[in-house]
Amino acid sequence: MLILIRVETDLKGGREAKARGDIVVVVDVLRFSSAVIVGLACGADAFIPVGTLAEARRLGKRKRGLILAGERKGVQPEGFHLGNSPTELENANLTGKTIIITTTNGTAALKSSRGARWLLVGAFINARAVSAAASGLSKDEKGIAIILASRLGSIFLEDFLCAGLLVSNMADEDEQMNDAAIAAKLAWTSAEDHFQEVVMRSSHATYLEGLGYKKDVDFCLRKDVYDIVRHLGKDTIVKLQAGKV
Ligand code: MLT
Repeated sequence: MLILIRVETDLKGGREAKARGDIVVVVDVLRFSSAVIVGLACGADAFIPVGTLAEARRLGKRKRGLILAGERKGVQPEGFHLGNSPTELENANLTGKTIIITTTNGTAALKSSRGARWLLVGAFINARAVSAAASGLSKDEKGIAIILASRLGSIFLEDFLCAGLLVSNMADEDEQMNDAAIAAKLAWTSAEDHFQEVVMRSSHATYLEGLGYKKDVDFCLRKDVYDIVRHLGKDTIVKLQAGKV
């Protein structure tokens, strides 16, 4: 039986994917997905995604040793230990730590499918691994939904291209796809050779570069660096597989 691969471009799509019982992959290349992939690869035990700064601060007070990370308008919120910068997380001592994370769009995309049986975190840096995990979990009977982080209904170019890469990795020639998945695959095919250059012209990459985060953008635009997949369990993101390519 063929599986249906969908790319969903808003939070409603995330909720519908959960209701259908799809295997869900949430993509926020710049930078939420990349940050949690790196954080867990660097030894953190788990991430707890939350929606608001107040919720993060409240949870952070409950137990000693919890790390607060995230961003608003791209910048580390006041009183937080870390921002949402994967290069910063890579250099922090995170061994055995639990990190409470809140970001503008990425955590909302993740929360839209909260409760899905399998909710994976995807980015360029773990593209091959997350595609293989989603295909394996679908076992030819469940659909796969790739949920893009979006802002007020607009998608981000880097997430659309990354979705196209994941679809290309997963889809056979005759696989069933929704229109957005077909479009993302076509976009990836045409940008594949120079996707970093293309993404550097995007709104969010330009914004982050303006804030001094060019290093983060470069870091996130590397393909298949981590052989690692994150899964959101009941409330926390934990490792499904570990390792570095
Ligand atoms: C988000 O979730 O909106 C992003 O990850 C923001 C960022 O860190 O650039």
